[in-house]
Amino acid sequence: MSSSVPLLGSRLRLAAAPMAGGPTTVALAAAVASAGGFPFLAGGYQTPEALSAEIEELRRTGLPFGVNLFVPALSVVDAAAFRAYAAELQADADRYGLRLDSVAAEDDDRWEDKLALLRRHPVPVVSFTFGLPATEVIASLHEAGSQVLATVTTPSEAGMARDAGVDGLIVQGPSAGGHSATYDPARDITAIETDELVRQVRRVTELPVIAAGGVDGPDAVHRLRVAGAAAVAVGTLLLRTDEAGTSPAHRAALTDPAFTETVITRVFTGRPARALRNTFIDRHEPTAPVAYPALHHLTRPIRQAAAAAGDANRLHLWAGTGYRSAPAGPAADVIGSLAEGL
Ligand SMILES: Cc1cc2nc3c(=O)[nH]c(=O)nc-3n(C[C@H](O)[C@H](O)[C@H](O)COP(=O)(O)O)c2cc1C
Repeated sequence: MSSSVPLLGSRLRLAAAPMAGGPTTVALAAAVASAGGFPFLAGGYQTPEALSAEIEELRRTGLPFGVNLFVPALSVVDAAAFRAYAAELQADADRYGLRLDSVAAEDDDRWEDKLALLRRHPVPVVSFTFGLPATEVIASLHEAGSQVLATVTTPSEAGMARDAGVDGLIVQGPSAGGHSATYDPARDITAIETDELVRQVRRVTELPVIAAGGVDGPDAVHRLRVAGAAAVAVGTLLLRTDEAGTSPAHRAALTDPAFTETVITRVFTGRPARALRNTFIDRHEPTAPVAYPALHHLTRPIRQAAAAAGDANRLHLWAGTGYRSAPAGPAADVIGSLAEGL
């Protein structure tokens, strides 16, 4: 992949960021690709079987696409802090008659099975978040014929990814919605504009950069391109589109005037993520331990019950800083309007 060619063969240098947990659907990916953008399927949280079915369905359209995976980390969970947090959350669980498990769950998101799937049935691009895969993993995907992108959040992560042999970088600024891709979930995510982060990363490496985080319209796309991004990825602006699988409670919260800002929080999953600020965050931020994916599993029953009940104050309402500009309607319209900034 070179920065002098359109992003991975797509007509526009715009990507639909992967959004695991519901928002990314085959229909959304197909709509973005048909509009000239480059979509990513979200492999995180899914079973390999479900991911495989999505890949096959999208492949039948003949449109270009990539697949995103979560890199598992060896997480050392402080058992006492985890138990104390579980006890604290029990009051939220009680509202739905749920009993929380105070033993921390481990889970690698079926990493090896998903890699095996992508080696057996290669896709044009594989992107990673939450960490850097081993160089052998990257090499094996290259051998299968895929290009490999690493998501990075600092110049130092960019240097590591370059040394590991990736073809390009997704540079994610802290204004991005959803989880930070940081390799160190315990670090403070310091504020920096995505265009400035892109400039810093480009001082470290000449790898092509796809910039992500905080895009709220064509001007933001333009700023990122001026900063040197070969392409721009967008997540939040697609959350309310017709083709997205975003839950009704999440969609409604994005336009609810009761939610007035986004914050970075670990309360839901134990890994920093940007979300609409709600009372769950306010109550639990001071005590939430750094323990992904154990906290993801701990809070999931509460979040599922809250989503079903339309209780947006106990839900992880992932959103980037541009959430006020997220429109309803066809995803193609979002891509069309952002293309004006290219
Ligand atoms: C609901 C939601 C889910 C996300 N899931 C993933 C994911 O599965 N993998 C990933 O690499 N990034 C994920 N992200 C981050 C996006 O890929 C991207 O970095 C971000 O949306 C860009 O910032 P923006 O939301 O301000 O456009 C998610 C973001 C949101 C809003």
